[in-house]
Order: sequence, then C-alpha cells, then structure tokens
Amino acid sequence: MALRLVSKNFRNKVSPMLSSASLLHSHATSFGFKEVREEEKSQMVGEVFSKVASNYDLMNDLMSAGLHRLWKDRLVSKLRPFPGMKHLDVAGGTGDVAFRILESVSSIRRRALQEPVDDGLQEETQIYVCDINPNMLNVGKKRAIERGLAEDKSLTWVQGDAEALSFGDNSMDGYTIAFGIRNVTHIEKVLAEAYRVLKRGGRFLCIELSHVEIPVFKELYDFYSFSVIPPLGELVADDRESYQYLVESIRRFPPQEKFASMIADAGFQKVEYENLVGGVASIHSGVKI
Ligand SMILES: C[S@@+](CC[C@H](N)C(=O)[O-])C[C@H]1O[C@@H](n2cnc3c(N)ncnc32)[C@H](O)[C@@H]1O
Repeated sequence: MALRLVSKNFRNKVSPMLSSASLLHSHATSFGFKEVREEEKSQMVGEVFSKVASNYDLMNDLMSAGLHRLWKDRLVSKLRPFPGMKHLDVAGGTGDVAFRILESVSSIRRRALQEPVDDGLQEETQIYVCDINPNMLNVGKKRAIERGLAEDKSLTWVQGDAEALSFGDNSMDGYTIAFGIRNVTHIEKVLAEAYRVLKRGGRFLCIELSHVEIPVFKELYDFYSFSVIPPLGELVADDRESYQYLVESIRRFPPQEKFASMIADAGFQKVEYENLVGGVASIHSGVKI
C-alpha cells in the first residue's frame, strides 16, 4: 500500500516533466528534467562535475554501496585488456577505469613472464584518459600520484570533448566510457567519434546507469533515487541540485534496447548489453569490423 502510494506520487511528480521533455524542439536538449538550449548543456554539466569533483569518490561509494567498484571490474574484464594495447577511456576523469586496465595488463604480463614487470614492455601499453573537465582530471591525476603511477608512461591525461576527440582515425584497440555518456549533448556524435578512433577489430564498451523494469524493484529504486540521493548529496556534499540532476539524467537516458540500436546505427557490430542489478547499470558493447 505504502509502496503504491510512493509510486503514484512519483508518477504524478515526474510524468509531466518527462512528457514536456519529450516535446523538445530541435535545438533544445535535456538537462535532467529541464529543457535547455544545446549550447547551455555542456556548461551546466561542467558546473555539476566541477562541484562534485572533490566528493566524487565518497558519494559514489555511498550512493552505490560500493557496487560501482564491482561494476567497473566487470567492464574491464569484458574489455579483455592485453599488453601493448592502445586504449582510450573517455569521460574517465577519476582514472578508475584506466587504473583497472593497467592492473589487468600488468598481471597478464606478470603471469606470462613469471617475473616482476619489465619497464620496457610496460611502456608499449598506452592508456589515454580523456575528460572535458579539468577538476575531474585532477581527481584522477591525484589518485595516480597516490598509487605511485605519476611517472607511469603508459598513462596519458588529456582534456577533451567526447563529441570531438583529438585522436587519429583507426588509432585505438579499445574504447571505454563509464558513467559519462548520459551527460553529453549529442550521444550520436560520441558514438561516431568512438567508431572513428577505433581500429578494425577494436572494441567499444560503455557502462551507464540505466533502466530498471522489474516491478516492485523499480518502485523501490525510484523511491531511493528521488527521495534518498538528493538529500544525501545535500548532507554529505552540501549540494542537492547536482545529485537531483544525476538521478534525473538517468531517467532521460535511452533505455537499454534503444541505446543498443544507436550503437549499431553508429556502425558497430556484435552489439550486446548486460544488465547489472536488474538494470540499475548496464554494460553495452560492440566491435568495429
Ligand atoms: C559520472 S563521471 C564518471 C567518471 C569516471 N568515468 C568514473 O566512472 O568514475 C562523468 C564524467 O563525464 C565527464 N564528461 C561529461 N561530458 C563530457 C564530454 N562531453 N566529454 C568528455 N567528458 C565528459 C565529466 O567531466 C565527468 O568526469
């Protein structure tokens, strides 16, 4: 009964916002449930991530009960990194994905050589971390220093826009984007750029907070999202609005099937996805053939 009431209240509050958002005209886009001009969105997203950067790790752990760590492990295990690979992690400011890829490559090499990592071979692997926001990149660079990776030549930090990458055509073996694509203005441009920079045989993997369709769990998840996360943001980071944007932006992101078809439309083949925790997050993948 209480659950039905929560669900009804949520629908009454959110449905009008969703339907007005679906009437967006051609030069407007969504910023959470708000309709904004396309030119405004990246600046607004930039302000969100500049504000959340300092509390990013703590809030991520609190909001996901640490699950984001296991999800990123899963993303990297699906990537199947290999020594010598050229990889691009987009929207990768925190370095979370890049560090995991480096660890994976190092452990493959250690197993292969049965001896400590050889610096000469290690240099061949190149992981580029690209993010539009210098504050988020600074979070990652600081963590690299803490991990003793400051001088690691395998790791390169680049400020750049996922919609217009500065990397050459057919230059990467792998491309990942973790919890970043729902923040961009034009998803299609990001996918086109991912396709352009990948070599033939190169793999695209994207993890994103996604859509839960399991009855009861969906209602509980909506309640948690809209009634717990923004107040938690206020309590821990003194920032309710950024976390309100976070939960709204998840609802505005295309559902799993639709996003899979967008990836296929960008030219990728073998497109598939895996739901994590009933669709709270999903990992989409594809190959450039
Ligand atoms: C939720 S954080 C994810 C960070 C990291 N991938 C992780 O999982 O910990 C989203 C990131 O997307 C970045 N971002 C947003 N729009 C972007 C764009 N157009 N190009 C590149 N990065 C972007 C933000 O600056 C932010 O660092």
